[in-house]
Amino acid sequence: MKLKTIRDVDFKDKTVLVRVDYNVPIKDGEVESDLRISASLPTIQFLLDGGAKKVVLMSHLGRPEGKEVPEFSLRPVVECLRTLLPGPEIGFFPLQKNVHLSDLSKCRVALLENLRFDPREEANDSEFAKEIVEFTGAKIFVQDGFGVVHRAHASTDAVTKLLPSYAGLLLEKEVAGLSNIVDNPKRPLLMIIGGAKVEDKAPLIEKFTGFADQIAVGGKIAADGFKGESEKIYVADDFDEDGSGAKLDIGPMSTVKIAEMIENAETIVWNGLLGKAEDPAFSTASTIVAEMMGERTDKTTVICGGDTTGFVEELMLVHPALKFSLVSTGGGAALEFLLGKDLPGLKNLI
Ligand code: 3PG
Ligand code: MG
Repeated sequence: MKLKTIRDVDFKDKTVLVRVDYNVPIKDGEVESDLRISASLPTIQFLLDGGAKKVVLMSHLGRPEGKEVPEFSLRPVVECLRTLLPGPEIGFFPLQKNVHLSDLSKCRVALLENLRFDPREEANDSEFAKEIVEFTGAKIFVQDGFGVVHRAHASTDAVTKLLPSYAGLLLEKEVAGLSNIVDNPKRPLLMIIGGAKVEDKAPLIEKFTGFADQIAVGGKIAADGFKGESEKIYVADDFDEDGSGAKLDIGPMSTVKIAEMIENAETIVWNGLLGKAEDPAFSTASTIVAEMMGERTDKTTVICGGDTTGFVEELMLVHPALKFSLVSTGGGAALEFLLGKDLPGLKNLI
């Protein structure tokens, strides 16, 4: 897949609007994993070094369903970004029509508040996209949020109809890395799928039987009783529970079974934590899988998704020797890419 990228356009002295995926795990008002933020820096730096007048970043955080929910504010993210990118002054702006370019012009980099505070974002509303383009004065759009290219939203789709649109460096890298896996995977290929977004991921699992040789399912999908039709699918069937009987991690028997599957695979793609791993009491299965994958440098190992990569990153602080072939910032987007789906956020960049 050949994307038009920011290398192909003259953006000097122009304001560039960049869609990033800063949907990062936040706890007590602090960013828990900055991977998605640090992964966006090469594009921002490339634009600044190349003389862009301003770089206006936009993202969503969580699923506030069109309402201004304070716990989903991107404010902690802008603090983190200021630490990671100490050079330029970085402004933070609400999503209001009455914010004008004159305010934005005080800083060379700006982040807009959570796009999903406005219901028109997820409705892919072109008026919303137009308002953003107008108040920012953007002349070029850059898609660098690989994690959101499976969404047809105002900031991923409608905006591409209003401005010349290009892929950023992260998006380019992610697409190239995952294309290698799709085009020529070493087999057997094992997919491990967990996570909490049951309604998103459960419908994809059966579709992976065409691509993967084996599929292991854990996380909330398994706890909710998902049943696979294909014999390639293994669903965890014992669980660790809390005092109220809630199934919060897959149990030891299922973990051993998945460990065996990892041993027998040449390529392992993992998306979605196997339990409620932010609680150490329920992180055992995810820890074992992450360690097994990270220790086997003879295998192709791919970690994808914001929470899964965040978890693995944290583990690597304790075990710096762990290595993975590819760490993708996209979760659902990576899965849909691997399935060969047409992704709405990519189609206008080709
Ligand atoms: C993700 O974390 O997978 C992306 O940021 C997309 O978030 P969403 O599933 O809420 O659209
Ligand atoms: Mg996520």
